[in-house]
Amino acid sequence: MKLKELESCLQQVDTFENPKLLLEQYPTRPHIAACMLYTIHNTFGDIEDKVVADLGCGCGVLSIGAAMLGAGFCLGFDVDEDALEIFRTNADEFELPNIDLVQCDICSLPAQCLVKAVDTVIMNPPFGTKHNKGMDMTFLKTALQMARTSVYSLHKTSTREHIQKKAADWNVKMEVVAELRYDLPASYKFHKKKSVSSYALFFVIKLYSRL
Ligand SMILES: C[S@@+](CC[C@H](N)C(=O)[O-])C[C@H]1O[C@@H](n2cnc3c(N)ncnc32)[C@H](O)[C@@H]1O
Repeated sequence: MKLKELESCLQQVDTFENPKLLLEQYPTRPHIAACMLYTIHNTFGDIEDKVVADLGCGCGVLSIGAAMLGAGFCLGFDVDEDALEIFRTNADEFELPNIDLVQCDICSLPAQCLVKAVDTVIMNPPFGTKHNKGMDMTFLKTALQMARTSVYSLHKTSTREHIQKKAADWNVKMEVVAELRYDLPASYKFHKKKSVSSYALFFVIKLYSRL
């Protein structure tokens, strides 16, 4: 599948109807999702035939794209049942049978989920900016416990040094794959402009390269 084709399919994915600010429900835009997934697939070979987990999956754009690129199985995890309901409808509309969803709080996953249960984790986690400080790092730590091979994640550019330090503490090596411009259409009342842009870093941690 070509990048443009993937992006145009992901434009059909429905997103949050009533986004919940405290859960940082910002959807990954189709262009960013397609570029991330295409790179994970073509450059790193971490999607095709792999078991892929999507932490904080929301309405499913990353899982759905991974399934389209030939993931063996995709597992979406999110705390919000409204988002998961939209995800289910999206997966049905695309006729993707190899996806399953788990409603849970990532901060309190049962131990059996945390023992290298999947090959690859992909995620656009909450950035920890809405009275949930540290949530980005909780997601990252959980992802590292779950993944056998690789973790791909989006983070606020300003957290680069902090994440690098944490990665060293956790004995893993992380690399910045790209810095992405993140355009969000106004989705909350406090957004005064039609769209808001900021930047996010797209990280990879390959677990075979534990220091
Ligand atoms: C930035 S959104 C990303 C949504 C989706 N992955 C995407 O790329 O469009 C973050 C997601 O994390 C979920 N979330 C926030 N806190 C959570 C928690 N403690 N446990 C599980 N999911 C959580 C939100 O409901 C939301 O769907």
